[in-house]
Amino acid sequence: MRENGFFARSNRWTWISVVALVVLTAASILIGFGLLPSAQADFRTQGLWDSICRAAGVPSKWLDSSDQKSPVVSTSVVLVPEMAKQASSASVGRGATLALNCTMCHGAQGMSRSDAPNLAGQYPEVIRKQLLDYKSGNRANPIMVALATSLSEENIIDLAAYYATLPKARTAPTTYDESLPALVRVGDPMRNIAPCISCHGGVDQKLGAPWLEGMPKQYLVDQLHAFKEGRRRNDGQQQMRNMARPMTTEEIDAVATFYARKAAPAGH
Ligand code: HEC
Ligand code: HEC
Repeated sequence: MRENGFFARSNRWTWISVVALVVLTAASILIGFGLLPSAQADFRTQGLWDSICRAAGVPSKWLDSSDQKSPVVSTSVVLVPEMAKQASSASVGRGATLALNCTMCHGAQGMSRSDAPNLAGQYPEVIRKQLLDYKSGNRANPIMVALATSLSEENIIDLAAYYATLPKARTAPTTYDESLPALVRVGDPMRNIAPCISCHGGVDQKLGAPWLEGMPKQYLVDQLHAFKEGRRRNDGQQQMRNMARPMTTEEIDAVATFYARKAAPAGH
């Protein structure tokens, strides 16, 4: 009787501990292989099997053959030379009205007094592309995404037309000169950094490359770091990301100082 009672009790405890162990194991498998990997920011797998492979360290490329065919969208805007053409005065007029909503940060004449970028004299295709990228969420910034979402494509064309007519910062365009900082003038071929003046004006002005002269220095520093760290991903073919990645903090500071240096003198 006593022994029977003892075994009955011990069987019950054995059974309970086995069940507990099974439940615990199942829970840790689910958390470790399912929940945690799926909570990771770059999670792009489908289903439990993928999660288990990811957690076990299998590179995601092995799992997803469609990966190479459809890389993460960086921008959906196709730049065409038409976008750089002079717009009608009606468009400029409508843009001027819409721009009243932008003066608080970008300045009354498109010249920012804070660290927001200057828009005055910016190439129209640049303003259009950037606003479309904010609108689609391909360039991230809470304020600008919210504002751009409420703009129609026509509004965007008008705003770009208006800002293009405003005088740029009192800055001379960069021209080739031996005294330019090395990265700006010749880049660094060993690290695949092309000279800034081969796209941003000086030697060549590539469609879609923004006017940088006179921009707030902090804005330039922030954008270069955002490209470097992959927080800004709307550059076509990753051209800016690839160049900013090998740049050191000191180099970023130096090129930003160079492009910002021509800002209008204080008191302007
Ligand atoms: C509350 C402040 C604020 C307001 C209002 C605002 N902007 Fe901006 N804008 C910013 C900031 C800050 C950035 C830089 C964001 C980033 O880092 O991506 C920016 C970036 C931009 C850019 C990208 C410029 C470049 O050189 O890449 C464009 C274009 C722009 N804004 C247009 C507008 C227009 C048009 C309006 C009005 C409809 C507007 N903004 C209203 C703060 C503002
Ligand atoms: C191969 C052409 C090319 C070269 C070389 C190049 N850029 Fe760019 N850069 C671009 C383009 C195109 C963009 C616009 C990306 C986009 O569409 O968002 C850009 C954007 C930028 C921006 C963001 C400006 C803004 O208002 O949003 C900064 C800052 C910048 N480049 C700095 C530099 C510096 C500094 C160098 C030299 C070290 C450099 N770039 C070299 C093509 C180039």
